[in-house]
Amino acid sequence: MDLKDLYINFFISKGHKQIPSAPVVPENDPSVLFNTAGMQPLIPYLMGQPHPYGTRLCDYQKCIRTNDLDSIGDSTHQTFFEMLGNWSLGDYFKDESITWSFEFLTKVLNIPVDHLAVTVFSGNNLIPFDSESYNKWLNLGIEEGHIAKTVDDNFWIAGETGPCGPDTEIFYFRSNDKVPTTFDLKDERWVEIWNNVFMEYYKDENGNITDLPKKNVDTGMGVERMVSILEGVNDNYLSSIWTNVISIIEEISNKKYEDNKESMRIIADHIRTAVFISSDPSSIKPSNTDQGYILRRLIRRAIRHAKKLGIDINSNFEEQIARVIINQYKKYYSELSENENVVYEVLKNEKIKFNRTLEKGLREFEKIVINNSEIDGTTAFHLFDTYGFPIELTVELANERNIKVDIEGFKSKFKEHQELSRTASIGKFKGGLAGNSEIETKYHTATHLLNAALKIVVNKDVHQKGSNITPERLRFDFSCDHKLTDEEKLKTEELVNKWIKDSLEVSKCEMSKEDAIKGGAECMFIEKYPDIVTVYSIGDVSKELCGGPHVKNTSELGEFKIIKEEASSSGVRRIKAVLK
Ligand code: ALA
Repeated sequence: MDLKDLYINFFISKGHKQIPSAPVVPENDPSVLFNTAGMQPLIPYLMGQPHPYGTRLCDYQKCIRTNDLDSIGDSTHQTFFEMLGNWSLGDYFKDESITWSFEFLTKVLNIPVDHLAVTVFSGNNLIPFDSESYNKWLNLGIEEGHIAKTVDDNFWIAGETGPCGPDTEIFYFRSNDKVPTTFDLKDERWVEIWNNVFMEYYKDENGNITDLPKKNVDTGMGVERMVSILEGVNDNYLSSIWTNVISIIEEISNKKYEDNKESMRIIADHIRTAVFISSDPSSIKPSNTDQGYILRRLIRRAIRHAKKLGIDINSNFEEQIARVIINQYKKYYSELSENENVVYEVLKNEKIKFNRTLEKGLREFEKIVINNSEIDGTTAFHLFDTYGFPIELTVELANERNIKVDIEGFKSKFKEHQELSRTASIGKFKGGLAGNSEIETKYHTATHLLNAALKIVVNKDVHQKGSNITPERLRFDFSCDHKLTDEEKLKTEELVNKWIKDSLEVSKCEMSKEDAIKGGAECMFIEKYPDIVTVYSIGDVSKELCGGPHVKNTSELGEFKIIKEEASSSGVRRIKAVLK
């Protein structure tokens, strides 16, 4: 039986209710990009809210950790993993939690007791030594030499703030060597397999620790690690979890895993994570920010390594690999079958996009290296932002020429960019427009053209009522008393496309608000602007107060297409449009 089923059945037999895995993108928590632990979706309940399923819960949860994205390629790291967890919400505490963990490991999974070791919280000035856990382990039969007391490793919190508490971690001796009598945390043959957190505190922004309304238990066990231990393999990618995925990569590339471990692990891991992100109910698509950027990087890196293996990129190799993954997991995650075609489309479209900019980017890269002995952060960011070069690609190409890349400089540029777009997405960006990636910048300019075209085609009194831009589309709300006719929509599109063809220059100047208004500049809420404003003009067809950013010339925009026209509110219509 599958480890997940064994685990769930065991905890159900101990009075737990199984809860479904939450989406991998947190539903109400913008502070993290992805769920990184099973407890994350349960935070409100750990903090006291009653859970509809009761006080004893268990599940397997889709998790993504991207902090060590660059370590993928070795034998243990993965960006996606499943975490098994059982929880007590103010119900049982240390005694039952430790007893059941021990029983599951030694009776259900048949792990010999002498191969187990644990850590317990040794105490500090705030929280005392966890003698209860210590004695419990001893009573169950863990040798004294296999119980270590620590402070730092035995206090668990998901990030900087939130529910937290002392924990006891369980380790397994993963080696054929004789088991040492003393457990040494630094000895890498001991690997952590399970963490039981006794979550009784809450840590706030100021570092204050207060009691939670109830004492909870939060445990977490990583599926891939446990399976590789049970199957006795030292390389996670040799466990049954990966057998089919690695086989299909071997088949497609006509190469052996043995000789191509790094690339095959990267392809396997990254496509699996991309499958889980793109099938998530959050409908994430590749982009240059947040979760979309992680998705983009994963797909592009997988493609790059596929190229390295000599796989024909124009084949549907990505779909073949994704299909194996979906078939393997769909029994546990119905969203995989429901969104199967979405997944294939996301992978394929991103591959096409990457291939398209890759050639241009490589030419740009060649130009850069002729004149420079080092690639600075701004240039690396330019390669990323304009040509979609993940930083790893720039570094790899630079390495081939013995050129250094200022990775820290890139990171700080990237961070600036992330912050800008995050601010934008919560609507604080000047003028209500959002984002500043290449595609979003194009949409800003297209929005101005659309506004101007509607005034000519529909009515000179059309005014902007709202705007929202994502990397996928623009959305424009405007005052208008009727549903646009097909003819009006067509004419609007034609006019915008004509202006794009006309290669109109986009210019920017600063002036007083008064002069801007006198000069006929369009704006939404005049009272919201400072005394000195920026006015963007597009040829002589549009003049608007705006914070930007914009393209330099309309010829950069591509083809404009209205995809939807609908009512927004009374007297306000909404258009969604894309650039192709
Ligand atoms: N939340 C705990 C962990 O992730 C169980 O280790």
